[in-house]
Amino acid sequence: MAQQVKAVIARAKGAPVEVTTIVVPDPGPGEAVVRIQACGVCHTDLHYREGGINDEFPFLLGHEAAGIVESVGEGVTEVEPGDFVVLNWRAVCGQCRACKRGRPQYCFNTHNAKQKMTLLDGTELSPALGIGAFAEKTLVAAGQCTKVDPAAEPAVAGLLGCGVMAGLGAAINTGSVGRGDTVAVIGCGGVGGAAVMGSRLAGASKIIAVDIDDRKLETARKLGATHTVNSRTTDPVEAIRELTGGNGADVVVEAVGRPETYKQAFYARDLAGTVVLVGVPTPEMTLELPLLDVFGRGGALKSSWYGDCLPTRDFPMLIDLYLQGRLDLGAFVTETIELDAVEQAFERMHHGDVLRSVVVF
Ligand code: APR
Ligand code: ZN
Ligand code: ZN
Repeated sequence: MAQQVKAVIARAKGAPVEVTTIVVPDPGPGEAVVRIQACGVCHTDLHYREGGINDEFPFLLGHEAAGIVESVGEGVTEVEPGDFVVLNWRAVCGQCRACKRGRPQYCFNTHNAKQKMTLLDGTELSPALGIGAFAEKTLVAAGQCTKVDPAAEPAVAGLLGCGVMAGLGAAINTGSVGRGDTVAVIGCGGVGGAAVMGSRLAGASKIIAVDIDDRKLETARKLGATHTVNSRTTDPVEAIRELTGGNGADVVVEAVGRPETYKQAFYARDLAGTVVLVGVPTPEMTLELPLLDVFGRGGALKSSWYGDCLPTRDFPMLIDLYLQGRLDLGAFVTETIELDAVEQAFERMHHGDVLRSVVVF
């Protein structure tokens, strides 16, 4: 029996989001229905609403979520009803070239549910990142459900589903930050803040946080930054070099997604250091760099999609570290809100007032 539940949708480009009733089908083969307990508000949800991702309105928003598996379809073995899960947008196929080479984090054939959730009139919804979790219940591919320790708070656990995982992974997975490395993080919102926290976890000796907003720098210190630089008033490249004995940082994480901050990251890294781009640029942005500098400075220029995470490997491990008190994931939850307050949360996000607003059900 299909179910009717409350959910937040974006009906048309730029229009405010609305709470409405949607229809969630029973899970088919390989699918699961999850009762959502918490879902964070992410920039990507706003980008969907603004038509910045594609034109497939109406969108069912929300994708940083945790909940309880309610029912599973035929052939599902990964999870069963009652499991506490974090939803992911990287349910790997196991069959593509990347998966077969043992690099499933680069899988290019990830799974989503095959059936569509709809409005009451039958209009098909496009779930954000194949999830759609500003909803009391949602339908996903079973592989999008990653079981974690149920002792974790849902509002905290769900954050691993997107931005916080992207930042932690940018440092730990993509940047391979290790004990004794110096790190700089440019842009310290939810993603950059998580990169700071990941760098601390990995044993970085110096963690330099760069932002144009003093409030974010203050938070970054709480998350583990050892130094802060306000790049509105101070040249960040000079400052980072000065703080690293004139060399630049071993790893620089760019968590803004703009050419000028990317350039700062490029010149603020040590020779043979690594730049990790985790901020998401927009289509019209271009980058110009002297090719001789790219060549002459050596090292690695990498980008980090979803923190190069492998949900089955990373989510349970990070939740365990959180439960041990070694990873303060709770610090990212600025506020918990009701389902009907997503539009206001977009507004606060836009003004930089929050790391994460999280809808709790
Ligand atoms: N220099 C330094 N910091 C900047 C600059 C700049 N020129 N411009 C903006 N920032 C800072 C903001 O002050 C803010 O603290 O970057 C931070 C961005 O944080 P959020 O807006 O909270 O965004 P976040 O969720 O962290 O995502 C960052 O990663 O996933 C992508 O789409 C996302 O591109 C975005 C980026
Ligand atoms: Zn694959
Ligand atoms: Zn997101």
